[in-house]
Amino acid sequence: MSACLDIRHLSAVLPNGQRVLRSVSLSVQPGEVRALVGESGAGKTMIGKAVLGVLPKSVRIVEGEMLIEGEDLGRLDAKARRTLIGARTALIPQDPLTALNPSRRIGSQMTDRLVRILGWSGERADTRIRQLLDEVHIRDPERVLKCYPHELSGGMRQRVLIAAAFAAEPRLIVADEPTTALDVTVQKQILRLIAQLQRDHGTAILFVTHDLGVVAKISQRVSVLYAGKVVEEADTADLFADPKHPYTRALMAATPRYTDPLASLKPVDESVLAGLAAEIVAADQAWRASHG
Ligand SMILES: Nc1ncnc2c1ncn2[C@@H]1O[C@H](COP(=O)(O)OP(=O)(O)OP(=O)(O)O)[C@@H](O)[C@H]1O
Ligand SMILES: [Mg+2]
Repeated sequence: MSACLDIRHLSAVLPNGQRVLRSVSLSVQPGEVRALVGESGAGKTMIGKAVLGVLPKSVRIVEGEMLIEGEDLGRLDAKARRTLIGARTALIPQDPLTALNPSRRIGSQMTDRLVRILGWSGERADTRIRQLLDEVHIRDPERVLKCYPHELSGGMRQRVLIAAAFAAEPRLIVADEPTTALDVTVQKQILRLIAQLQRDHGTAILFVTHDLGVVAKISQRVSVLYAGKVVEEADTADLFADPKHPYTRALMAATPRYTDPLASLKPVDESVLAGLAAEIVAADQAWRASHG
């Protein structure tokens, strides 16, 4: 069976030639949750956007392949690519408020995607959305469907977007820090909810986070990203039991919640970062030499 998502040696550059993704390879198997963890600026969102075909214009893919269920996105024309991505993938965004149109009611926004992208009838979309609102434990769907986004709490808005993501039965969901914008108590509920729906629907998820605690809770496999480069990948249990890369170990050491839940985050060890930066500069020089 093909991987749900297969990214092979993907590199991307900014207009000034700076590489933001450095030969990234990662795969997500059907029904698996793959965490993508790294500090701010590592390129996690960039990878998610590449998969969803929504990279900023300034970012250019210069090498590598991306396959969704065995279909190479690079071999499709723009329209076929959009159709494939629309049918097989969905996004759970970081900020539910900006992901929703402020001037339209929740109901029409939710059904719209199913009608527009998947060509469903309004009636079918409507039934499906109500089903999913029930699955995300929204008890008063009639009211919620009539609301404008600002009339709902952050947690409710994220429930709505989770329902919308699962409604079209995508094979792969990209969840980009889906709990970061929420209160701590709501974060836990939302994480549990995503895990529950993931199991019930058998959907594969590429779960982007900077939080190792979240990685431990939700994923079966994990890729650790630093400066656009995957420095380590492993089964999640193995990564925590025996982190191999110095950066992974430094990241864990900087996350004291495992030993002291009240301690705040510490910066990642400078000497490890300096070593990694030197490695990356050398790799970039070699890459530039071989790519003109
Ligand atoms: N639109 C853009 N144009 C040019 N560079 C960008 C753009 N968006 C992000 N970048 C750069 O690309 C790199 C990766 O950014 P990205 O947003 O993917 O990081 P991230 O890992 O998602 O970080 P965070 O945890 O803060 O969300 C960063 O160096 C960032 O400055
Ligand atoms: Mg991000």
